[in-house]
Amino acid sequence: MPHQQRGSSQKQSGKQEHRGLMCGIIGYSGPRDAQQVLLEGLQRLEYRGYDSAGIAIVGAEGLQVFKDEGDVAKLMSGMPLIEGHSGIGHTRWATCGRPSKENAHPMVDCDHCLAVVHNGIIENRGELKERLENLGHTFTSETDTEVLVHLLEEYYHGDLRQALKRTLEDVKGTYAIAAVCQGHEEIVAARKENPLIVGLGAEENFLASDITAVLNYTNKIIYIEDGEMLSLTPQEVQIFNNKGEKINKDYIIVSWTAEDAQKGGFEHYMLKEIFEQPVSIHNSLLGNFDKIMAGELLSAQDISSIKLIACGTSYNASLVGKYAIEALSGIPATVELASECRYSSETKEDPLVILVTQSGETADTLAAARLAKKRGQRTLAITNVVGSTITREVDEVFYTQAGPEIGVAATKTYVTQLMAMYMLALKLGKSRMLRRDEIHRYTHGLKAMPRTVANVLAKSEEISAAVDMLTEAQSVFFLGRHINYPTMLEGALKLKEISYIHAEGYAAGELKHGPLALLDADTPIVASCVWDMSYEKMLSAISEVAARDSPVLGIGIEGDRDLEAIVDQAICIPEVEGILSPLPLTVVVQLIAYHTARKRGCPIDRPKNLAKSVTVD
Ligand code: G6P
Repeated sequence: MPHQQRGSSQKQSGKQEHRGLMCGIIGYSGPRDAQQVLLEGLQRLEYRGYDSAGIAIVGAEGLQVFKDEGDVAKLMSGMPLIEGHSGIGHTRWATCGRPSKENAHPMVDCDHCLAVVHNGIIENRGELKERLENLGHTFTSETDTEVLVHLLEEYYHGDLRQALKRTLEDVKGTYAIAAVCQGHEEIVAARKENPLIVGLGAEENFLASDITAVLNYTNKIIYIEDGEMLSLTPQEVQIFNNKGEKINKDYIIVSWTAEDAQKGGFEHYMLKEIFEQPVSIHNSLLGNFDKIMAGELLSAQDISSIKLIACGTSYNASLVGKYAIEALSGIPATVELASECRYSSETKEDPLVILVTQSGETADTLAAARLAKKRGQRTLAITNVVGSTITREVDEVFYTQAGPEIGVAATKTYVTQLMAMYMLALKLGKSRMLRRDEIHRYTHGLKAMPRTVANVLAKSEEISAAVDMLTEAQSVFFLGRHINYPTMLEGALKLKEISYIHAEGYAAGELKHGPLALLDADTPIVASCVWDMSYEKMLSAISEVAARDSPVLGIGIEGDRDLEAIVDQAICIPEVEGILSPLPLTVVVQLIAYHTARKRGCPIDRPKNLAKSVTVD
């Protein structure tokens, strides 16, 4: 594991712990004003997506809890100054019980002495609630979390950690949980399938769902693993394994700063992250290429076929991977949605399964990894988060090295997933069908990619002007073929995620099997048309839609007069190898989505109903 070296300075190759779920946890115990630390932490967790927020502070006035539906700014505006140096906070994304003040965390017990924040799901909440109500507990929310605080109340006899241990013995489900008790500066916490980290300070300690929330104060981080429990005070952090034995855990030094996770002058995180892509691509190559080509991953394996499994954006990257792997190595590859995997038949097993997940925490992808292991398949994860759950579930890990990604809509993690696909495809092709000169050509293309992508980024304003043809649309079709069919799926996904315009990605050859019926002057088309084996067919598809009066925004290669002649607007990228064209083309569709959403005034970094990482299936 990369984070085992006590006190070592580890270059954090993945993005910060943006794994995790929709909710966020923060905890603090130390000499500072806890209210300020907790609220700041909650603001840093906002990117995860949430609908309500709250804090509980243990202070001179007893246990003080403030929570509300809405954002952290709203919570702060109605909150008095609270004295206290220890407390917990939470941003909630409703899964059990609607977003409301009552359902917001922290949850308190009947006597208002204990407070609990929780991420995850308590599966046996029904029976626990009934039992607790029979014991006289009164419930005030619709959440599953509330059973935790009443159980804690039931088992608390002066030792909060023992009470939590006993509570969790009764619980079926998943959690990252933190609790405090009136009159005590101690915070107790535990983890099962939901992320939790500890930040170590001098005479102060922090707890959070991810590093972002504490980076302003410390870069010494301990990752809490499944089954572990902890007790945190200003002086020490004690960690216990699932048998209740005290264990020593190493911390890592995170090399990037809180500044890395800020907007850095850009209007939105998403735009900042789109502009960081040349660096991410460069880092991805730097961190991986030589190692992989030298045989570090997938060594000595007889791979007759590959299955790629993923969700969302990572699924689209996997589709690009399928085309790249097949084209460069000749190994047949299929792609499956992680959520559908559980229904797949065992009869035809691929020897290698590649799980693609930027966060490393997506529940469906983790379930697919476990299924593959159970079936005896070899597993490789492509992820951006060092130490994330998937890394502990698989045989081998490829870190994409995108750096921290805050915007809910994945951008730089996507292009680095594509880089991973190309590197793996080249590696597999090297020992099979690729000639030396071909390897050299593709390698050169990849190494030139940061510059190529920078050239595309320079067209941001041009793209911003071009999207005027999309901003009022009800529906937009994204058309592509071959390896840019998934690029256009990704374009459509980005547009619908952040601009709320209905968008569909379509393989251009399928137009006549349905979508043509929907085309008219009010239905714009975005079409890719690069100089590869699909070029002529894409030109015909574009002519076909133009004949139905659909306005066309074409994305092609600089100097393509034929394309320019048949589209309403053209965005042109520098010429690249056809097989590598998804990289610059993706940047164009990202900017199309971004500028359209910005012009429509959408909350780009936190689109409604979506979360950065989905840890429930
Ligand atoms: C969520 C995110 C998407 C992401 C998907 C899969 O839906 O909003 O951006 O593509 O999860 O996430 P993963 O972390 O597994 O790549």
